[in-house]
Amino acid sequence: MALAQPMTADPELDDLLASRPALAMHAQDGLCFEGVPLHAIADAHGTPCWVYGAGTLRARYRALAAALAEAGLDVHIHYAVKANDHLAILGLYQTLGAGADVVSLGEFLRTQQAGVPAADVVFSGVGKSAPELAAAIAAGLGQINVESAEELEMISAIATASGRTARVALRMNPDVDAGTHEKITTGLADNKFGIPAQDILHLYAHAATLPGIQPVGLALHIGSQILSPAPYAAAYAKAAEMVRSLRAAGAEISVLDLGGGLGIGYGDEPGISLAAFASVVKKEVGGLDVELLMEPGRYLVGPAGLLLASVILEKQGAKRFVVLDAAMNDLMRPAMYDAWHGILPVSAVQLRAPRAPADVVGPICESADSFATGRDLPSMPPGARVAILDAGAYGAVMSSTYNARPRAAAVLIEAGKFHLITPRQTIENLWADEFLPPLAGAG
Ligand code: LLP
Repeated sequence: MALAQPMTADPELDDLLASRPALAMHAQDGLCFEGVPLHAIADAHGTPCWVYGAGTLRARYRALAAALAEAGLDVHIHYAVKANDHLAILGLYQTLGAGADVVSLGEFLRTQQAGVPAADVVFSGVGKSAPELAAAIAAGLGQINVESAEELEMISAIATASGRTARVALRMNPDVDAGTHEKITTGLADNKFGIPAQDILHLYAHAATLPGIQPVGLALHIGSQILSPAPYAAAYAKAAEMVRSLRAAGAEISVLDLGGGLGIGYGDEPGISLAAFASVVKKEVGGLDVELLMEPGRYLVGPAGLLLASVILEKQGAKRFVVLDAAMNDLMRPAMYDAWHGILPVSAVQLRAPRAPADVVGPICESADSFATGRDLPSMPPGARVAILDAGAYGAVMSSTYNARPRAAAVLIEAGKFHLITPRQTIENLWADEFLPPLAGAG
């Protein structure tokens, strides 16, 4: 199944625009994001360029927090750093009171650099290394979500050696199908993630006997880009049942980490209903008397970012191709998951011009380097600009320098002004960390 592909035909460009409150088309200025003309950003910093909107980043967080509060829930939001780890974004969420969910020492140190208190950070992931665990425990990290018996022993040894106690939650694999793309589903029994439900009771009791370990509760995360509340209901019901069994066996449970995965609308369809999600949380786990956490990434940042690109040329072969200066090394999601992203012309005249189907591709020497197939677009002369939408999550973080293409610039819009937050990587910088060793000469 393609990830977030609209079920029917591609949405109309007007509908894409209308369903995104931060975007507006102005007759003179062209496409604006949070009131800022994208042309002005491209003129100042070139393309390809990531553009993030602080207003949207905040609005998404507040909408989620409000939906949970309206359901009468007190859920602490730990932003999943993997979705977009830019310091500006981590810093922004920190000012709103969010904690963080990290999966590597690098992500943990980024949160520290951005000012997130270590005690507000949860460390997830199926393979945390001993040096990573040691550094995070020494820094006073808040919680480790443990994914195996083997990892639990490692943490006990590391915490004991440094005279610390690690707060751990066991990540339960609930064996629930989240109905998303196979590459991002995590809650099925044969995925590598979590601990099988039948092992939890025994392992939790064992954890309580280990030195350096304080078991505090359970965690689960069933997948990403989940659009229906149903898989959450199934998984949380299993979690609630497990909490009751653990308590019946005398265990102390004070934390339940609900994971992330809230899906967004990549076409003109809505994302998951926050009210429906919150009511599932309320119904299944609201009465458990535990501290609730969640780890959303995409929902918060996906719609708050776009990738601004320019047309290099249009070529007509067996098909019509629009070749951009952005490529799969910048935004990998279409190549990797067949993901669908909206593409809008930045010029108002082009938005209104007659359209014909085109494949929108990048310049990389692979057929996978394609952003869209058969997309209805106007004629796009060299230099015309496009916005690739909803690229704030799993965009820049998954980019590479393949084909010796420098990393794109990034800009944050704050209160109607744009700020450069990452300069475009220079070409010389591509080999700045490489050494040329003495090489044997020919012959
Ligand atoms: N917590 C854990 C333990 C996770 O593994 C993930 C994502 C999240 C939270 C955040 O999930 P979100 O709320 O963002 O769905 N690169 C893929 C997505 C991979 C998601 C991996 N885990 C994509 O571009 O769609």
